[in-house]
Amino acid sequence: FKLLVLNGPNLNMLGKREPEKYGTQSLDEIIAELSQVAAGLNVDLTHFQSNSEAALIERIHDAWQAVDAIIINPAAFTHTSVALRDALLSVNIPFYEVHLSNVHAREAFRHHSYFSDVAQGVIIGLGAMGYKVALEAAVSRLQNTH
Ligand code: DQA
Repeated sequence: FKLLVLNGPNLNMLGKREPEKYGTQSLDEIIAELSQVAAGLNVDLTHFQSNSEAALIERIHDAWQAVDAIIINPAAFTHTSVALRDALLSVNIPFYEVHLSNVHAREAFRHHSYFSDVAQGVIIGLGAMGYKVALEAAVSRLQNTH
């Protein structure tokens, strides 16, 4: 299976950025660990991080008919981006929404997501482990549907 992992704005700052909320691991470390899990599951995993909404949208368009599932942490775009939501719907690829922190325990503006109602699954507040849980869930579902 082919999986695409997308990370939105400011996630390139993981490790340095508010470590009490987001952990001390860098994004490179998180993706390296995730790639090891993926290799063990025979999954072809690609990763893309951008601080630009447009770049994330273009990457989603490029995934059309080329990727079996998407794991996305839209970061702050979670709470703002109809365009990113529409991009995911336009390619019709099942996706898993991941948040490192428990957004429901934080500011009210983080409680609403433009993605959750159309996501295959939502993993919130498990830290970096959330990406691994999403990966396992995606593979398990693909195995049962292919
Ligand atoms: C986040 C939560 C968002 O509210 C925030 O804007 C982020 C990261 C998380 O992973 O916990 O940038 O998506």
